[in-house]
Amino acid sequence: MLQTKIIPSALTDQLKQDQLVKEIRALAKKRNAVILAHNYQIPEIQDVADFVGDSLGLSQQAHKTSADVIAFCGVHFMAETAAILCPDKRVLIPDLKAGCSLAESINIDQLRAWKAEHPNAIVVSYVNTTAEIKAETDYCCTSGNALKIVQSIPADKEILFLPDQFLGSWVQKMTGRKNMHIWMGECHVHSAVPPSKIDEKLKEYPEAELLIHPECGCLTPYLDRVIRQNGTCPLKVASTEGMMKQAHASSAKQFVVATEIGILHRLKKENPEKEFLPIDNEMSCKYMKMITLENLHNALKNDEFHVTVPEEIAKKAKLSIDRMISIV
Ligand code: 13P
Ligand code: SF4
Repeated sequence: MLQTKIIPSALTDQLKQDQLVKEIRALAKKRNAVILAHNYQIPEIQDVADFVGDSLGLSQQAHKTSADVIAFCGVHFMAETAAILCPDKRVLIPDLKAGCSLAESINIDQLRAWKAEHPNAIVVSYVNTTAEIKAETDYCCTSGNALKIVQSIPADKEILFLPDQFLGSWVQKMTGRKNMHIWMGECHVHSAVPPSKIDEKLKEYPEAELLIHPECGCLTPYLDRVIRQNGTCPLKVASTEGMMKQAHASSAKQFVVATEIGILHRLKKENPEKEFLPIDNEMSCKYMKMITLENLHNALKNDEFHVTVPEEIAKKAKLSIDRMISIV
C-alpha cells in the first residue's frame, strides 16, 4: 500500500528558508553584489549578509566595496547614503517602505528656517536624515562618532544639531558645549523607554552591565542621576557596533541592552558564554523588520528597488558624508 509521508510544517519552512538562502547567495555571486545588513535586521538577513554593522560601518563598507551592486538590508536613508557614496554602483533596497521615524522628524523647510535664525552656525546632522537634509549639512555624524565630530568643531562656533534630541543632549553633556542648539526630533522606538525600565532591570540583574544607545529617551534623566550619584553604575553609551565591541571586551557576564532587539542576535551569536537581556522586548523597529529573505531574493533577481539621489543633491550631501566617514 502506498504510504504518504507527513513532513512537519516547521521542517518544510526550514527547507524553504535554506533554499532561499542558497539562491540569494548564488544571485549575489552572479551579479557581483555585496549584501550589507544593519544590526537591527532579522536574524536570517544578518546570517545571509556579507557584512553586518552599524550606520557608520555600513557606510564605510559601501564606500570601499568593489562590488557592482549593493543590496542594502536596512532603512531608506542608509541605502541613500550608500548611493551618494557610490554613484557608479547600483544600490538596491528590498522594500521601499523601509523608512525611519527619526529621519521624518525634520523636513527641508524646517531646516532652512532654523538656519536662517542662526546664519553663522555649523550644521551637524545625524545620519538618520534624508539626502536633502544632508545636502544642507556641514557635518554628518553617526552615534559612533557624534562626540568626535562635535569636538572637532572650533569651540567658538555655534552648532545646530539635528534631528535626535537625546543623542544631541548626550553630546552636549559629554562635550560641555554651551553654544549647541538641538532639534527636538526622536525615534519612536528609542524615545519610548522610560528610566524606570532601567531601574526594574538592574534590580532584577544587579551584576549586569548596562549598554544604552544614545537615541534612548531614558538616557538623559538616567545619566543625570548617575552623575548626581557620582557615577556608580556600570554604564556604556554606544552605537550598535560600540555595543558589540563592549560585549566582547568586558569581563561582565550579563548585559542589559537598551536598544532595538535585533542586535540581540549578533550579541548572543558572538558571545555564547554571556547573557544579554533586552530592556524591553517590545523595542522593535517595524521599518527594519520589513526586509525579509523573500524580498531580498526578489531584489537581487528582479533588480529592485533601485535607490538613487538627484545629482545636485548627491554632490552637496557627499561633502558632509565624507566628513562623517573620515572622522572615526
Ligand atoms: P547605529 O548607527 O548605532 O547602528 O544606529 C542606527 C539607528 O537607526 C539607531 O536607531
Ligand atoms: Fe529609525 Fe528608530 Fe528604526 Fe533606527 S530604530 S531606523 S532611528 S525608526
